[in-house]
Amino acid sequence: MKKYKQIIVANWKMKLNVDEATALSAELKDMLAKEPLADKKVVLCPSFLAMHDVANILKNSEISLGAQDAFYEEEGAFTGEVSPASLKELGCDYIIVGHSERRAMGEVDELVGKKAQAVLANNMIPIICVGETLEEYEAGNAKEVLARQVSKTLENLDNKYFILAYEPVWAISTSGSGKTITAAEAIEQIKILKDSIPASLKDFDIVYGGSVKPDTVGDFSKDFKGALVGGASLKAQTFFDLIKNS
Ligand code: PGA
Repeated sequence: MKKYKQIIVANWKMKLNVDEATALSAELKDMLAKEPLADKKVVLCPSFLAMHDVANILKNSEISLGAQDAFYEEEGAFTGEVSPASLKELGCDYIIVGHSERRAMGEVDELVGKKAQAVLANNMIPIICVGETLEEYEAGNAKEVLARQVSKTLENLDNKYFILAYEPVWAISTSGSGKTITAAEAIEQIKILKDSIPASLKDFDIVYGGSVKPDTVGDFSKDFKGALVGGASLKAQTFFDLIKNS
């Protein structure tokens, strides 16, 4: 698999309707065609509903399609869930699992691990999110929480390439904390993340997520392999600038 200098993932959450997602994808595709950034991998994660139309736009482009979640079973009586195989069929190559907004709805490490495993089994790349909450951070428990999340979520993973996204929950723009982490603080956690990854897993990259903006992304890009971006991925020019500055 080709290795990139930076991997920049847009997480559009539940923010864009189908028309908006397709328009934004088309705009980004044009911008990247005019000014190719060949050493950067760009991944767009629209809502499930918009994925089909976005997939059509991204055909024959360097931009990859991602999903914001997937279930761990292949098929069956699982109302409301989406299988990794059906996402693969659509042209999806990356799937976010264990985002803190899903963990806040009850997803636990074991479930996130099963989802990551299913993504790998379907030959896609899981973007596995971990991060401490504000309470955990303020209580001085961030390292302990990260170590637990990483080791438990990854414990049954096959030794295939995956991406770990460190997203301190309190630093996500919509968390309401009003706080952002300094790059130096985020970089400090890389060692704990690496030390907690099971020794059998050798092939991974670590990206950062949480209020990343065009003017801050560069602070992280020396130590992190890229970024998971929410708010700053919703406008073409802002996201394009962010990719360029990464
Ligand atoms: P943000 O979101 O960039 O708006 O903080 C990041 C994320 O939740 O993945």
